[in-house]
Amino acid sequence: MHIPPLLVLFVQCVYGVKEHMFKNCDNSGFCHRNRHFAQQVASNPSYSPSYSIDGDSISIHNDSSSEWSISANIKKELPSESDLGNIILPLKISFLPKNSIRFQIDEEQRQSITPGNKYVNSQRYNGTSDWAFQHTATTNTWENVNLDIESSKNKISASYGPAQEYSVEIQFNPIKFTISRHGEVQLIANEQNFLNIEHWRPQAENARHLTPEESDFNMFHDDFQDSSSDTIPLGPESVALDFTFKHFKNVYGIPEHADSFNLKDTTQTKYPYRLYNVDIFEYETNSRLPMYGSIPFMLASKPECSVGLFWINSADTFIDVDKTSKGGCCTRTHWISENNVLDFMLIIGESPNDINESYGAIVGYSQLPQVASLGYHQCRWNYNDEKDVLEINSLFDKHRIPYDYIWLDIEYAESKKYFTWNQDTFPDPERMVKELDHTGRNLVIIVDPHLKTGYFGSDELIKRKITINSPSNNQTYKGHCWPGESVWIDTMNPSSQAYWDYMFRYTDDNKFMGGLTTNVQIWNDMNEPSIFNGPETTSPRDLLHYGSWEHRSIHNVYGLTYHEATYKSMTERFTETGNKRPFILTRSYFAGSQRTAAIWSGDNMSTWEHLKISIPMLLTSGVSGLPFAGADVGGFFGNPSKELLTRWYQTGIWYPFFRGHAHIDSRRREPWVPGEPYTSIIRDALQLRYSLLPVIYTAFHESSTTGLPVIKPIFYENRKDIENFSIEDEFFLGNSGIFVKPVTDEAAETIDIYLPDEEIYYEFDNGVLSGNSVHRQSDKKSVTKHVDINTIPMYLKGGSIIAKKERYRRSSKLMVNDPYHLIIALDKSGKSSGKLYIDDGESFDYLQGESISIEFSATEENITASTTSQGQKFQNSISGVRIEQITIIGQDNSILPKKFLITQGGKKWQFRGVTQEKSTTIKNPGLRVDEDWTIEPLVDNQVHDEL
Ligand code: GLC
Repeated sequence: MHIPPLLVLFVQCVYGVKEHMFKNCDNSGFCHRNRHFAQQVASNPSYSPSYSIDGDSISIHNDSSSEWSISANIKKELPSESDLGNIILPLKISFLPKNSIRFQIDEEQRQSITPGNKYVNSQRYNGTSDWAFQHTATTNTWENVNLDIESSKNKISASYGPAQEYSVEIQFNPIKFTISRHGEVQLIANEQNFLNIEHWRPQAENARHLTPEESDFNMFHDDFQDSSSDTIPLGPESVALDFTFKHFKNVYGIPEHADSFNLKDTTQTKYPYRLYNVDIFEYETNSRLPMYGSIPFMLASKPECSVGLFWINSADTFIDVDKTSKGGCCTRTHWISENNVLDFMLIIGESPNDINESYGAIVGYSQLPQVASLGYHQCRWNYNDEKDVLEINSLFDKHRIPYDYIWLDIEYAESKKYFTWNQDTFPDPERMVKELDHTGRNLVIIVDPHLKTGYFGSDELIKRKITINSPSNNQTYKGHCWPGESVWIDTMNPSSQAYWDYMFRYTDDNKFMGGLTTNVQIWNDMNEPSIFNGPETTSPRDLLHYGSWEHRSIHNVYGLTYHEATYKSMTERFTETGNKRPFILTRSYFAGSQRTAAIWSGDNMSTWEHLKISIPMLLTSGVSGLPFAGADVGGFFGNPSKELLTRWYQTGIWYPFFRGHAHIDSRRREPWVPGEPYTSIIRDALQLRYSLLPVIYTAFHESSTTGLPVIKPIFYENRKDIENFSIEDEFFLGNSGIFVKPVTDEAAETIDIYLPDEEIYYEFDNGVLSGNSVHRQSDKKSVTKHVDINTIPMYLKGGSIIAKKERYRRSSKLMVNDPYHLIIALDKSGKSSGKLYIDDGESFDYLQGESISIEFSATEENITASTTSQGQKFQNSISGVRIEQITIIGQDNSILPKKFLITQGGKKWQFRGVTQEKSTTIKNPGLRVDEDWTIEPLVDNQVHDEL
């Protein structure tokens, strides 16, 4: 966000008190009311809940296509003075693939009420899942599982899971939903009786409808700053419920917050974790304030079991985490949303990755990004003109630094009117893009959802009636953003897609991107949406969207609807130009965004704390199903010292999305700006990232099929060690065995590294094996390591095999045919294994099987590569790609072979390795990467008869 000079002063003064700009639980009506409700319930031992399931209303549906669901009515009893009678809240419980159960609660009377505003849809919004779920996931199938339902007067129970190891119990009065594994309770909904659904009531009669636990604080008006103009046409509508995670000490997820990985207790503060997508520039660290994106998914894990909770709601949401229970009984949470149906999903499994896999089966896994988008991205606000862009491009070559994408921020457009070019600064974009293409580089252009009033971009939106509208007349809403007065596209409206497709199309008559070569991609920013004159820097809640839905219902998913529209338009564009995967970066996001976009953590600052917090933030994003995430390298606001910039690059190479970016007022800081020795150190870091692209891409492929985080918390590797659950500054790169702890302290001379398990860890600083290794000592689980400014502390875990590409190239595109270096790190018993996934890295052909998956394995008997591929086209295209080196590292030199027999494609040949103290290297073994092979050790002087 750009801040005018006077305001800069102000912002500096208020830094540290960002809280005042955003609501907390005390001044948010619905949060305040629900905390009050919870306190009343908790402090009254004889509380008798107003809610119960009507046992007579239960019906169980089990149709022949193995769809299971249970429906029933929940009754909410009102005080006797109320004339609304009992409120009926229809409940539906359905069984989704991979051990997930979904609970949905609606409000019957909302079918017939007349809202205060005739333009407003009076139903509870139930469309969040339409956006969050992947479209193939909604069928309720229980593969080969026999659901065994038992019912009695006050409960129904059912066991499920492949070996019937899980069970759910639905208790009617008081209502409780309990999930168990092997008979042990793991997760309970409504154990604390915080279930609350604020039913519709006329304002004048409100007093008669209040149950004794309810407060009427801000039910019909909002007294928070600019929010006071909210018309609240449907009155109080909140939904809330508590969830107890039994014997779980650690819970994770619910991004986005600049906070610890392991979620904190919030009970003593007015700041529960809040999910409300807002433009929170210069955000503070260690904060529960809302940020740009929201994923209402929580993961809990302990050695023997893991569970997940997906709260399917796109409205403003607060989550209280209570870790105060005695004797480690549990972590309790209280989820409170402003409105919509009450809708959530409970997932159970053994490992945290089981939970990611089940969750991803519903909301979709991360896209498999183009390889180029995993390279380095160079951005700043702004590269001024064509000359500037091309000069930066050639300076990368001059300094022998690889990169893949250069970015254009909002100044490329004439008066910030997206879909136009400033003719003075970018007179010939086609020429510029061709020149980038020529050097193997690509371009990203920003397009925000606010369109300046008074030009074709916005005029057409208004004409087609696809804007977000004002509640007073259901006509286009006008607010302020970068270009001044603007209107917002309503991407909830299906008709918006055709317009958006038209704006991005390739054909020559399109003055924006028509005719530009293929690798131009899009950045969607400010899509919370950011509205400078709106309450809490965003949209008034009573604005209207397609379907007459109030903005308050869909706020957190709007950003997703916008970047998905761009993704679809870009897919359409690429069908004209040749089958490429779009790359979209979005600032605002929701559950499901991973299917079509990457994210970054917005406007951070050039401080050591912001560098440090980026790691837990990215771990959180990863365990919440959105691994393709990064943070602005160098910090967006301010000017990093040379040391901070260098350390940030050394950390940034591990971000799944890796981009340097800076504010318009920041000094230039491209990798060569700090000078020596920093530039060389940054170059080494970038070259290390590029050498590991095969590992990173393999991790992404795994993530795109199983939901595995790309930077993986260490408790995913070893859950037996309870301390691993709290580590937030170390991680693995997928399942590769590469284990990293970046240096994030100023002037660090040493770093303490907590070792995740008992295995050997080979020192692999900066991607180079030193021959040294570490392992846990009986009395000490960590090691202290000396570091200097050159050091990127990393290890390769014994038992891993990775494939690197080590030649310097300008960009990833030029590495396609480069040979691989295999590194085999033997475990304590002399074995190891690993994977390599390869495809063309840019098209969708891999979906037709045009890819190769290679499983490597090493034992005392042999080393093998076994390849799987369904498509011939890709396999043929890489038949010339070789393995140029194999390094085997073990603890003990004597077990390492020196002479080998190699077999591939029906041919056999002998080879001698070069042995060092702890390793053996086979140079140019002559192996192709596209076919199976075997290497067997030969005892010295043994000659193989068949040769
Ligand atoms: C927002 C973005 C930032 C961008 C700026 C101008 O502040 O977060 O990355 O540079 O807008 O478009």
